[in-house]
Amino acid sequence: MNKENLNVAIVGATGAVGTKILEKLLERNFPAKSIKLLASKRSAGIEIAAGGQTYIVEETVPESFKGVDIAFFSAGGSISQKFANEAVKHGAVVIDNTSAFRMDENIPLVVPEVNPQTLKDHSGIIANPNCSTIQMVAALQPIKEKFGINRIIVSTYQAVSGAGAEAIDELDQQSTQFQERANIKAELLPSASAERHYPIAFNAIPQIDMFDESGYTLEELKMMNETKKIFGDEQMAVTATCVRLPVVTGHSESVYIETNDENATVDDIRSAMEKAPGIVVQDDPSAQLYPMPLFAEGKDEVFVGRIRKDPKQPGGFHMWIVSDNLLKGAALNSVQIAEELIK
Ligand code: A2P
Repeated sequence: MNKENLNVAIVGATGAVGTKILEKLLERNFPAKSIKLLASKRSAGIEIAAGGQTYIVEETVPESFKGVDIAFFSAGGSISQKFANEAVKHGAVVIDNTSAFRMDENIPLVVPEVNPQTLKDHSGIIANPNCSTIQMVAALQPIKEKFGINRIIVSTYQAVSGAGAEAIDELDQQSTQFQERANIKAELLPSASAERHYPIAFNAIPQIDMFDESGYTLEELKMMNETKKIFGDEQMAVTATCVRLPVVTGHSESVYIETNDENATVDDIRSAMEKAPGIVVQDDPSAQLYPMPLFAEGKDEVFVGRIRKDPKQPGGFHMWIVSDNLLKGAALNSVQIAEELIK
């Protein structure tokens, strides 16, 4: 691929992640000659100002991809299913933020700090992992590299922006309804297609996406399957419980791991993480220092704290991992994939 003067398109450019992709491309001086903003017909003609320029949103149609070198997709799985192959036919490389292609064995699922080598095998589509998965594997990679990891048990505390801009609005409206003692209207969460909807304001919902017959939700299965694919270890034991919280942006995770090294210490774990790119250790109980989503919002890094040894299990550790789900969890990782591609 041409490495400069690239024609870039963002599908879903008006959405929670799409707007951040544009922001990151501009902030990181991505070598784009043009950036085309695509969304649904509803948004055609809307003007978006960024980086001293005004962009006009266009409707996404098959011809949108003529001459496009890199197309970022973040408009939901069905739109990726409909247009990604069309974009590839027109010669574009697609970096897809949805779950449409993630588990396809011929499609690389990439976190650049973890498995950049898989990028060379792409045949037009590259998948960006689920937001909760990205921050977890990025943080655990230095530990896996140094000590090996054979088990992960994760519980997530996920922000509403992971469910899109409409979910942020719903939290906002419900918070006002709650304060005004009005009826709380719940129409979107835990999943638009669910039979029942529950308020997210002042609540915690232990369901993200729909349930599978196994009793896990699709979000939990994404974390479990994607982690093994990215780490290239089908034998790794991974289980997840995913919970939605009334936090606007920033996913938090309580993570338990079992390393292959029974003698590893908390200091070993901490120093391996401190040296890793994009990871910031914030871990000092005596100063009440630990990561929180409110302070991770708008930041590129993955923050780790509360690192503790399991009292009974040799090689077992607990920790708390937080990151901005719209940035490292989505837009930033996608742009880093593009940067890696043109390196
Ligand atoms: P639009 O604003 O025109 O509806 P979010 O993840 O925040 O919910 O955003 C979803 C993104 O997907 C928005 O940019 C939205 O555009 C876009 N989108 C929704 N439906 C379509 C469609 N049929 N074709 C292209 N983009 C779509």
